Parts: sequence; C-alpha cells; structure tokens
Amino acid sequence: MSTNSGYEEDAKNLIEAYESYSFETAHCRHLHLFPSAPCSILEIGAGTGRDARALVDHGHEVWAVEPTDSFRSWAEETHPKTKLHWFDDALPDLPKVNQLGVQFDFVFSSAVWMHLDKGQRASALDAVSRLMKNGAELLISFRYGPIPEGRRMFAVNVDEFLEEAEKFGFELIERTQQAETSDVFNRSDLSWIWVCLQKSGVGYE
Ligand SMILES: C[S@@+](CC[C@H](N)C(=O)[O-])C[C@H]1O[C@@H](n2cnc3c(N)ncnc32)[C@H](O)[C@@H]1O
Repeated sequence: MSTNSGYEEDAKNLIEAYESYSFETAHCRHLHLFPSAPCSILEIGAGTGRDARALVDHGHEVWAVEPTDSFRSWAEETHPKTKLHWFDDALPDLPKVNQLGVQFDFVFSSAVWMHLDKGQRASALDAVSRLMKNGAELLISFRYGPIPEGRRMFAVNVDEFLEEAEKFGFELIERTQQAETSDVFNRSDLSWIWVCLQKSGVGYE
C-alpha cells in the first residue's frame, strides 16, 4: 500500500472538499507561524494547492510536492502561477526536490505525517532537515483520531516526533495545545496538533 492510497480514487470529492475553505480558515490558529517576509517555501503533500497558492499570493516562492496525480494536475491546470512549482515527489526521500539543489527558508506540511511509518519518519526528518537552511523553520501538523479504511495511516505522537526531530538538528519554537485545535470539517473524533520547529543544525551534519 503506498503512502497516498485512497486519494486518487476519491480525488473528485477531495478536490471539492479541500477547496471549500481558505488558507486563512484552515490555519487561523497558527497564521502567525507563517513567514511574513517573502522567502522560499517547500510545501510537502500540497494536495490541491490551496495553501501553496495563498503563500505565493503573500509574496513567497513555493515548491509544492504532491504524489497524487489528480490533485497535482488539477492544481496546475486550474491555478497556474509563475512562482508556484509543482513536483511529483514524495516523502520520505523527496528525490526530485533533492536534485534541485535548493535549500529552503520554510517548510510546511499539513496533514501528511500520519501516512509515514516509523522508519519512513526518521528518513523523512533527515531529508527535510537537509533541504533547510540553518535557521529555517518547519511547520507541521499531526492527526489524532481513528484511521479510516482504505488509507495507509499510522498513529502519531508529537512527543516522539519532537524527540526524534532533535536528532536531526531541530528545536521546538511553538506547539499548539490539543484543546485549542479543531478539525476544519467539524469531525468531532479528529483533532490536530501543530508544531513549529527551527533548524539549528547543532549536533547534526
Ligand atoms: C490529508 S491530505 C492534505 C492535503 C493538503 N496538505 C491539505 O491540508 O489540504 C494528505 C496529502 O498528502 C499526500 N501524500 C501522501 N503520501 C505522501 C508522501 N509520501 N509524501 C508527500 N505527500 C504525500 C496525499 O497525496 C495528500 O495530498
């Protein structure tokens, strides 16, 4: 089962769902954690590009990674933007982004980490860290809730993630409290924790 199992089959409904609310609505509780000055952003698992487009509109240049063909082609056809570059690539290793030789100021990944198993998570942290400049920030969400049928998902634990991330040169800047998060689709059995980390590079080469 691939990490994006189930998305292609349900792409039509999911495109409608992901595009039914704005970047500002989706991220209202942690908008302050996005960069304000124009910079280079890598979005991993960008879906339909709702957030990537908004970030370009805010003056950033965005490299959007998305392995589900229907999402990527819908986004490229419907909302082309000069400063938005799409890649058919995937965690854990991001081989195509790696080939670019770019190091990013900010990395963002919304609702993706639960698709990786334990071994993939360590490899992904390594790959992401290497793609970031020293001092760059990583903003990432963690899904707490039941695992739906037909999807490849694993339980997440933010404390375990933070412990692992430290080994790859990351320091915690901010973590949302679970009680403060709510699911944008009002799914009462789901909640999300967001963390923002900075790559310090200390202890990691
Ligand atoms: C729940 S959706 C979130 C989409 C978008 N980030 C959002 O918040 O609307 C999860 C996304 O992760 C993508 N995905 C799955 N496995 C992935 C991987 N290994 N690397 C990168 N993206 C992946 C899926 O194709 C899907 O677009």
